[in-house]
Amino acid sequence: PKVAAVIVAAGSGSRFGGSPKQYRYLDGLPIVRAAIATFASHENIDHIQPVIRSGDSEIFARSLSGIETLPAVPGGATRQASVRAGLEALAALKPDIVLVHDAARPFATAELITNAIAAAQTFGAAVPGLQVVDTVKVVGEDDLVIDTPDRSRLRTVQTPQAFRFAPLLDAHRRAADEGRDGFTDDSALAEWAGLRVNIFEGERSNVKITTPDDLPDSRASKAALTD
Ligand code: CTP
Ligand code: MG
Repeated sequence: PKVAAVIVAAGSGSRFGGSPKQYRYLDGLPIVRAAIATFASHENIDHIQPVIRSGDSEIFARSLSGIETLPAVPGGATRQASVRAGLEALAALKPDIVLVHDAARPFATAELITNAIAAAQTFGAAVPGLQVVDTVKVVGEDDLVIDTPDRSRLRTVQTPQAFRFAPLLDAHRRAADEGRDGFTDDSALAEWAGLRVNIFEGERSNVKITTPDDLPDSRASKAALTD
């Protein structure tokens, strides 16, 4: 199949302290470069479509230098809008499968990409998930517990999320037409559109950098402080 990847890098990092974390260096490389490099060197990925903030063209180009991608397109106000922009930019290339990946996840492995493509071919839509290790509570606004769902049925999901391209683009267009702009990931949007979504095994190391505490350096230095 022809496989494309949309890498969404158009966020502004409000929980990181208001700086676009995707351009921070981690182990000597910009986070966005590490996130894209694994796709760029994967033998089954035909096209990479980055989505960036319109003012970030220069820092993006500097971060990527030497890695080939399609020209980056500007994102939107929400992750959902940014993914849509990437999908629309790919439409003319008519990929069979598209993977959507967060630029803020630099640790996904080539094996995870391989598994995502395979699961999307089998199921049409597939996302990597992990068993939940903590017990999860549903709470009311008064901070009192309403419910404790059965942990064995819960999964936290990551990216890359993989889909047959045409139905995902269609679902995104439909959501936008109907004013549904609050989907935090593509699997939730796909479920809303009636697609079957498979969950395959994710990777514990495939964390999303969300706050400064998620940088491995920061975890290591905190451990050193408490030793
Ligand atoms: N993203 C995007 N366009 C947006 C919002 C998010 O492309 N309008 C991307 C981010 O760049 C990131 C991924 O979606 O790679 C996951 O989003 P998140 O971790 O929420 O990043 P930010 O939105 O930048 O962070 P915050 O929510 O703390 O502002
Ligand atoms: Mg965000």
